[in-house]
Amino acid sequence: MMELRHIAYPRQTVLITSEAEVTLMGKKVEKKNIMTMSWSMPVSFEPWMYAIAVNDECLSLELIRKSKVFCVNFMPIELKNNVLYCGRNSGRTKDKFKETGLKEEECEKIHCPRIKKALAYLECEVAEEIKAGDHFVFIGNVVNAKIKKEGNRVFHKGGDKFTTTID
Ligand SMILES: Cc1cc2nc3c(=O)[nH]c(=O)nc-3n(C[C@H](O)[C@H](O)[C@H](O)COP(=O)(O)O)c2cc1C
Repeated sequence: MMELRHIAYPRQTVLITSEAEVTLMGKKVEKKNIMTMSWSMPVSFEPWMYAIAVNDECLSLELIRKSKVFCVNFMPIELKNNVLYCGRNSGRTKDKFKETGLKEEECEKIHCPRIKKALAYLECEVAEEIKAGDHFVFIGNVVNAKIKKEGNRVFHKGGDKFTTTID
């Protein structure tokens, strides 16, 4: 039986950062989080828009819905283990900034953390949320973006395997 990974992969894999006040283990906390995402893409030039598909069980869904913003962080292949960790663990039980050692910096145009070691980032404000099966697609207006550094980016091949950009 054909699986999606056979035809749609490798896919560039980014880290989505988000922040909002949520209740975790009975306590109200201002939560900053990181999730791994292979299902994302640019969808409009003018205005510049970017879409991400968020599964219906993750904490990031709650954070993005509440704050109406998210940041897309393009990561170097050297950090593939951090990328895997953020996709295999939930912020409901883990502080992924602390566990991975990834340092944060504050976004400029939105109230949201960004990952310092990202090669590039897109700061997005949610324009629309669309239900698509077991995922929710958030289409964001890109309100700030920067390429900080050239480098080889992370692409997911499936399972715990990654590859990178080759010229
Ligand atoms: C390589 C990789 C790619 C992933 N891509 C996506 C994705 O595109 N969309 C999604 O909803 N979940 C994706 N996941 C799963 C989430 O990252 C995972 O559910 C994560 O634990 C959510 O974290 P949170 O609960 O802290 O928000 C991916 C996981 C891995 C390992």
